[in-house]
Amino acid sequence: MASPCRALLLVVVVGVVVVGGVSGSGGGERTFIVRVDADAKPSAFPTHAHWYEAAVAAASGGGGQWREGGPLIHTYSAAFHGFSARMSPAAAAALAAAPGVAAVVPERVRHLATTRSPRFLGLLSSPPSALLADSDFGADLVIAIIDTGISPTHRSFHDRGLGPVPPKWRGVCSWGPGFPPNSCNRKLVGARFFSAGYEATSGRMNETAEVRSPLDTDGHGTHTASIAAGRYVFPASTLGYARGVAAGMAPKARLAAYKVCWVGGCFDSDILAAFDAAVADGVDVVSLSVGGVVVPYYLDAIAIGAFGATEAGIVVSASAGNGGPGGLTVTNVAPWMATVGAGSMDRAFPANVRLGNGQVLDGVSVYGGPALQSGKMYELVYAGTSSGAASSSADGYSASMCLDGSLDPAAVRGKIVVCDRGVNSRAAKGEVVHLVGAVGMVLANGVFDGEGVVADCHVLPATAVGAAAGEKLRKYIASSTRQAPATGTIQFEGTHLGVHPAPVVAAFSARGPNPQSPEILKPDLIAPGLNILAAWPSGVGPAGIPSDGRRTEFNILSGTSMACPHVSGLAALLKAAHPTWSPAAIKSALMTTAYIKDNSNSTMVDESTAIPADVFDFGAGHVDPMRAMDPGLIYDITPADYVNFLCNLNYTEQNIRAITRRQADCRGARRAGHAGNLNYPSLSATFVADGARPTMKTHFIRTVTNVGGGRAVYHATVRAPEGCTVTVQPRQLTFRRDGQKLSFTVRVEAAAPAKKMEPGSSQVRSGAVTWSDGRHAVNTPVVVTVQAPLQ
Ligand SMILES: *[C@@H]1O[C@H](CO)[C@@H](O)[C@H](O)[C@H]1NC(C)=O
Ligand SMILES: *[C@@H]1O[C@H](CO)[C@@H](O)[C@H](O)[C@H]1NC(C)=O
Ligand SMILES: *[C@@H]1O[C@H](CO)[C@@H](O)[C@H](O)[C@H]1NC(C)=O
Repeated sequence: MASPCRALLLVVVVGVVVVGGVSGSGGGERTFIVRVDADAKPSAFPTHAHWYEAAVAAASGGGGQWREGGPLIHTYSAAFHGFSARMSPAAAAALAAAPGVAAVVPERVRHLATTRSPRFLGLLSSPPSALLADSDFGADLVIAIIDTGISPTHRSFHDRGLGPVPPKWRGVCSWGPGFPPNSCNRKLVGARFFSAGYEATSGRMNETAEVRSPLDTDGHGTHTASIAAGRYVFPASTLGYARGVAAGMAPKARLAAYKVCWVGGCFDSDILAAFDAAVADGVDVVSLSVGGVVVPYYLDAIAIGAFGATEAGIVVSASAGNGGPGGLTVTNVAPWMATVGAGSMDRAFPANVRLGNGQVLDGVSVYGGPALQSGKMYELVYAGTSSGAASSSADGYSASMCLDGSLDPAAVRGKIVVCDRGVNSRAAKGEVVHLVGAVGMVLANGVFDGEGVVADCHVLPATAVGAAAGEKLRKYIASSTRQAPATGTIQFEGTHLGVHPAPVVAAFSARGPNPQSPEILKPDLIAPGLNILAAWPSGVGPAGIPSDGRRTEFNILSGTSMACPHVSGLAALLKAAHPTWSPAAIKSALMTTAYIKDNSNSTMVDESTAIPADVFDFGAGHVDPMRAMDPGLIYDITPADYVNFLCNLNYTEQNIRAITRRQADCRGARRAGHAGNLNYPSLSATFVADGARPTMKTHFIRTVTNVGGGRAVYHATVRAPEGCTVTVQPRQLTFRRDGQKLSFTVRVEAAAPAKKMEPGSSQVRSGAVTWSDGRHAVNTPVVVTVQAPLQ
């Protein structure tokens, strides 16, 4: 995946920001987010803003940086009480000790969770669901898209046939360049933009390169919004591939766009302002396709904003991140959010490489322009060998990656160039190769990239191959001679449907375990996120590089960014069907009905290895919209339960107050159990195998609510993780009425490993507890991790 390149980009950008923050404001100032106890406002101050300004001035010793409009960047009052402001770390520390201040959290910068694998063309982005036939499903619900803004004129956002804007909607339609005041309608009911946090750190934005309005000049926000709630659009597009209908998951739900992501990234203080506005505006679901950070929940502005939203009854769905396939890469892991990984669909875009020696290597592409000459074999050249590298740079490494300026035009003209994956974007490599006069490109994974490939909309005929094919290709080229040069061609085969196996877990999809609280299995579930067709703004090229002058109404992207809005749209449908359900109940319905078998009736495999994936890859499984509508039982969670969970993470009361405005009294919670007793729809046990005990034990308490509509008798079946014993007590739950709650315990015993484990290593085993009444199957994954001590 592009994860190595993404990760690098992140480091570079953060580096720039930190340096910019220090040098730009002299005193080492940066942005801090401050949570206050709203009731503690001294009566001397007429408004909270007056109080906040005075507090910043006092903490800064009166010497804070002067900002247009005062020291405050944003004030928050709905999802969260407090403000953001620039100040020195010393001033922040002083402020943290001031009366009425609950927490001071340093700002971080986030990035979009897409892998930029675009393409033009037309097919369904997801199978149409019978749910949608039900005429008004989702029509009274509003989904907030916190992203890069939106293209309001796109056909996916027309409002024909929709009823009036729901009366509870209290939002606004902000306007500005490219986004006139009449841009909103009965579909796009609101739009706002938040740039104060971005500009406080990065300086005034360049208004040639980006616009101070909700208009999407990137494409990501338009794409994610249409996945969640785009209208039916037919035909979605053409350009060499099949035509089809494009539709979001909840085509009648309303959309509200909150633009927080800019050229320099998405800044926490702006994201929190968007959460705050969304809560005040009256949205039902928040969809957030930006990457997370690995810090405790009380330092994570997204976790904090999402908690406020959850308390207000809003479902928050977030992307798991694209840091896979390595372990411990999952982000946005707070238990009150739905953390969504990415899977494939049963659709593929084969573009195979046929070699002069007769071998055919599987590749994928959504290149849509003129093809290579039919039947002709072209000379193949590996960019990493001296024949391909420009003499001036003479740097085999940057040439192998096809970095800008690294290729010798004389050596590659008229040939197909093989480039290694990594460092620059996949589309940028295509452009480099195109500009030096090559006719085609094969993008080859290295060993560390594995077998995961993404179809891109390159500017020249190009395809992507996995690590094994890449190795064959490099060997074949290395064995060629001047007399017998390596030759090949790329065969574009269009769109294949009914591909087996599907779904598979996308290689890039971020994986568990949960780095913040291993007691909570993350990701929660997966949804389609590989090669997703959705709306694209008219002013942006599909390859996502500035020089791409092509224009298209739809585009294909990949990433957990694309998986998240599928779940956001489904959450809106579930909330429409079950208006009284809490955010936790909706998430429970999605998780306990998810499936783990693919269309070949085997456990879903991991794209990067082709071996069966497991709970740290797919969580509870792949989302199943139809079954989620009628889950039978749900695991409910109240905001107070989350506070008890935080107590059991041993957070201090001060830390807990950063997340929730509730006064935490942890004594009772700590007596009552452990963090694994949060009423979550999965069970995760972690043991340290210290060799002292032959077996290791724990137990979980869970409570399920009957939502199946009346009397029901459920029986438990257990699939115990290998080497473990799992006992459910009682084994039968007899419900007499709808809404009734019954509890059970699950005891997990793991035998100590027979062989001594490597220090620091761990073994993961998974199973499930399933409650069934003959009509519903309520699946609860059980994961047992046995860790060897570090020494
Ligand atoms: C602003 O952006 C435009 C277009 O990308 C660029 O040409 C110009 O140099 C930028 N100006 C500044 C001051 O960075
Ligand atoms: C799928 O596999 C299971 C066993 O793993 C078997 O019981 C079931 O009948 C199979 N289903 C189909 C449709 O082949
Ligand atoms: C919290 O502290 C208690 C007592 O020291 C300890 O037993 C428990 O493992 C800790 N929990 C976590 C999640 O660190």
